[in-house]
Amino acid sequence: MGDRVVEIKKGLEDVFVLETKISSIDGIKGILEYRGFNIHDLLHLSYDAVSYLLIHGKIPDEKEISAYSHQLKKDRGIPEEMIRVLHTCNFNIEAMDALRTEVSYMAHCDPDMNDNSYDGNIRKGTRLISKFPTIVAAFHRIRNNQEIVAPDPHLSHGANFLYMLRGTRPGELEAELIEADFILSAEHELNTSTFSTRVTASTLSDLHSAIISGLSTLKGPLHGGARMAVMEMLDEISVPEHAEEHVLNLISNKQRVMGFGHRVYKTYDPRAKISKELAKKIAEEKHEQKWYEIAQNIENTVNRELVEKRGKPIYPNVDFYAAVIYRYLEITPQLATSVFAIGRVSGWIAHILEQYADNRLIRPRAKFVR
Ligand code: SDX
Repeated sequence: MGDRVVEIKKGLEDVFVLETKISSIDGIKGILEYRGFNIHDLLHLSYDAVSYLLIHGKIPDEKEISAYSHQLKKDRGIPEEMIRVLHTCNFNIEAMDALRTEVSYMAHCDPDMNDNSYDGNIRKGTRLISKFPTIVAAFHRIRNNQEIVAPDPHLSHGANFLYMLRGTRPGELEAELIEADFILSAEHELNTSTFSTRVTASTLSDLHSAIISGLSTLKGPLHGGARMAVMEMLDEISVPEHAEEHVLNLISNKQRVMGFGHRVYKTYDPRAKISKELAKKIAEEKHEQKWYEIAQNIENTVNRELVEKRGKPIYPNVDFYAAVIYRYLEITPQLATSVFAIGRVSGWIAHILEQYADNRLIRPRAKFVR
């Protein structure tokens, strides 16, 4: 090594390591595009159609989306042995741990488990996308001593998830909100969990192993785990009047306000803008302003104390208002990050396939110091 001069970029901050056609982020203007389409222009589509766009690179036509949705619906069921595995889980864990365990198990029983061809990976990826909601809902019901609810092929990806989770078919707005949340959560360029799936794929390890890397990484509170932490913060604050003091205490103790800040966005996360509007809508429909008001008071205090007074670009990120929406949809904190993963798995699969298609082993360097 000698005395070669090297520049260390801690956390790989602002380091571009590959080219991708899957998405782009403008952190200054607050713009997110999937395959060149602004996310605002994708929200009228189904999650299935956005998943297809991310993985296949085009908005599906009538024939393509009907075949894709048909396959996704056909693959929703999980076999008895996977239900047995859920029964062996420790029920005090987060749903993310159960999901990670189930994906490990799926790798053993997937009919294409030794097929790492493009078509084999598309089939395996479709099964993962289809089964994530079923696994999360089944785990939730098993640990609450409730009968498992079988998937309903007549419902959308999001509506079916809420149906299997709660045992009743969701209202129109609830179905619209969960589908939008899955779309907003689906993809975000080289975030840490997506990067970890690509690192695993770059060794030519299999798709399930790469997805397990993604799940293990997303769980962390600095990343997708923030969604659970925001829900727990909402519960702890419990009434709008307590929000300001809670945030002031966090700041004076130099603690992070979960759901705020971003490595790339130095302005409002465009996804948070959308979920804020959706959270307002569901609060009005349910005549239950409390959670939305708590969130508003948190945001106003962070804005005043960190943005205005200290000039720090700390704005709500994708997790903040998503957590508020989950509260209204009766999704519990221990499920929050696994619900994020239900959306994100399509982005992970798109990136893993892109890595396989033009692979270079990802292997950075470390500078030895005494
Ligand atoms: C996701 O990358 C992605 O795309 C991720 C994601 C995706 O779609 O995949 O968008 C999803 O993970 C969103 C982020 C969810 N995480 C959280 O909400 C956790 C809280 N946020 C922070 O920990 C933080 O903002 C990060 C981790 C998100 C980003 O951290 P950085 O880029 O490493 O920034 P930093 O830690 O260097 O902070 C810079 C300054 C520091 O102050 P100083 O030391 O300079 O005085 O900003 C402060 C930090 O203390 N700061 C915060 C803060 N986030 C940063 N202060 C209070 N509350 C916060 N949330």
